[in-house]
Order: sequence, then C-alpha cells, then structure tokens
Amino acid sequence: MTRDLSTDLIHHPYQPPAGFAAPQPGVFKASTVLFKDVAAMRSRDWRSREGYTYGLHGTPTTMLLEERIATLEGGRQCLLVPSGLAAVALVDLALLGPGDEVLLPANVYGPSRELTRNELARWGITHRLYDPMDAQALGGSITAATRLVWLEAPGSVTMEFPDLAALARTAYERGVLTALDNTWGAGLALRGFEHGIDIVMQALTKYPSGGGDVLMGSVTTVDLKLHERIKGTHMRLGLGVAGNDAEMVLRSLPTVALRYAAQDQAARHLAGWLQAQPQVARVLHPALAGSPGHEHWARHCKQAAGIFSVLLQPHYTQAQVDRFVDALQLFGIGYSWAGPMSLAVPYDLRVMREGSALQGHLVRLCIGLEAVADLQEDLQQALRAAFEA
Ligand SMILES: Cc1ncc(COP(=O)(O)O)c(C=O)c1O
Repeated sequence: MTRDLSTDLIHHPYQPPAGFAAPQPGVFKASTVLFKDVAAMRSRDWRSREGYTYGLHGTPTTMLLEERIATLEGGRQCLLVPSGLAAVALVDLALLGPGDEVLLPANVYGPSRELTRNELARWGITHRLYDPMDAQALGGSITAATRLVWLEAPGSVTMEFPDLAALARTAYERGVLTALDNTWGAGLALRGFEHGIDIVMQALTKYPSGGGDVLMGSVTTVDLKLHERIKGTHMRLGLGVAGNDAEMVLRSLPTVALRYAAQDQAARHLAGWLQAQPQVARVLHPALAGSPGHEHWARHCKQAAGIFSVLLQPHYTQAQVDRFVDALQLFGIGYSWAGPMSLAVPYDLRVMREGSALQGHLVRLCIGLEAVADLQEDLQQALRAAFEA
C-alpha cells in the first residue's frame, strides 16, 4: 500500500528505548559522546553513519530529523546546517574550487547571490546569471568551467516559475550538477528528485519549522557518493545543529502538510481577490493563470506555498506604497516567512531585478494562519487608507 507523505512524516520507523512508547521521539543533546573504552573510540570512523563520535557530527535527534527531511524531499541522505543560507554555502563549498564556475538564476534568493559574489569570488570561483525562463539558453551558458547550476522555483520575490525539468535535463546532458533551493516547494508542492535534480536544499526555517522561531537548513541527496562528498565538507566546516533546535523542527514536522495546504488555500484566495482590486496592477503567484511560468507550475506542482507578490499601480508613489504596508494591522513587516503570522515586505524592483520588464511597486505578502476573511478585510482597509485618502 502506498501511503501519503503526510502519513509517512508521522509514522516514521523510529524505535523508542525498550519499554517506552510515545508518538514523538526522545531528545538527545550532546557535545561529548562517550565511548565504552579506548578500543571503541579508536575503532570509530567519524565519517560513517553507523554510531556516534562527537555531538557536532550527529546525535540520535539530529540524525532522526535528517531521515525525516530526506523522506519529505523524497531523497535518501540529508545533512542539517544552522540556516538555509548555510545550506547554500555548504553545497557551494563542497562542490566548487578555484577556476570553477557556478550558474545562478537571475531571480535567485538575494543572499545566495551575495555569497557567490563576495565569498566564493575570494576563493577563485566565478559565477554567471542565467535567465531561468529560457531553458534552451541555459545550454549555451554552460562552459567547460561550469560545475554547478543552481535552480529555484519560483524565483524569489518576482515569482517566475521555470521549466525545472528542462533546466535539469540541459545541465545533466552536459554533465553538470544541479542544486535546487526548494524552500518554497518544501518537499510538498515540489519534489526535486522527481525532476532529475541532484541536490535539494531547503531553509527548514520556513515551512518545516513553521513557528517563525528556528533557523535551520538541509541538504538532501539520493546519490551516496555525492552525499559523502558534501558530508566531508560539512564536518570540516563544523556545521552542526543543536538538539533543541532539531527537536523544535521534529515537533512541527507532523503538521507541515496541513499548514502548507491551509496557507496555500488562503494565499490563493487572497491573491485572486487582490487581482480584482483597482489599486493592484498585477499579482505574481505561480498558481494564478497569467503569472510568469504558470504553465510550468501546473506541470510540476499540485500545490503552492502561501507567498506571493503584488504589483501596485505604477502611478502610485513609493511613499503611498509604504503607507499601505504600514496601514496593515494583521501583517507584520519582516523578511522571513511560512510562520503563523502573515507578513509584508515592500521591495524596490529597480534594485531587486535590474532590467526586469515588471513595472510598478512590489509588495511581497506571506500568508500565515490567521482567518482569511480577517486578512482580506485588513488588506482592504490598508488599500483604502493608502491610495484613496
Ligand atoms: C528561497 C530562500 N532560500 C533560502 C533562504 C535562507 O534561509 P535562512 O533564513 O534559514 O538562512 C530563504 C530565506 O528567506 C529563502 O527565502
């Protein structure tokens, strides 16, 4: 019998200590791991997944979360790191060296680009941006120096959904590894390995945590050799996570599918409603017909995350748009997303996406778990206060 992923995230093959049973796993916290004698210490290979060496390299709690995230992403092995951005950095540092080139989509998560432009450049690693909406053109961008192609679906803030499978195929045919930032898809709307992608990272900070109170990232693979290569760098960089943080994500994981579906439904309702408001020029949400790459979203996904962007009429001033965001009562003003509270961030498109064809002032909305009717009323009063006063 094949089971739904939401069931697998709860009924996972976890074994509690003998004589004890509970739905949630126990929590182990350690820097020091004790060995029964010197011989046991000497015989322990710290690279092996069997057994424990040192808290930084894994405890039963962190390893259990790694297994569950691998299940969520449809992969086989997973490594945890202290943030989503650290997961991007881990992949880059494990796979790239001097003289290598990495390709980033033009709409990549901004700090990933900053990492590449600043830190990787210091190590002699170059990068180029490619247009993720032109899968054919990617082939022409790959050179003999290209070692890695980053993918993101949809792009951060401007929300264009690429033809992921075609991009992955193009890189594969040229022998180049692909890594997907699957923070938006969360392993629920989108499963990277089904589209031929080699590495899937996720900011667990967002949906898997769901509380807006934990920072964590994951790097998942299906190929053991690739995993071992990344794991070596993970260990040498000292990128472990604490048991308390792992525990918080383990506690949230059984509800991730429900939260994701609820936030998807609420976001789609509000995106559709906003599209009909006179103050709104355009809504960028991959599940809405007419949004950039909607047809690719429809081929790759059944669900969508609860995050989208709104372009307000181009004749409004930035001050009016800021007034709209300030007038929102239920939306916090803040950068992270996927927690219980709805959030809004105004972005300057001219700074965000040089040369973008999109016009107008952009506000990104992330929908939380408040009642959707209350959120709609809040958006309505803020639109009126900012643009009709
Ligand atoms: C698409 C995407 N990837 C990665 C990250 C980084 O996650 P973290 O905040 O855990 O570093 C974020 C955070 O906003 C994100 O939106």
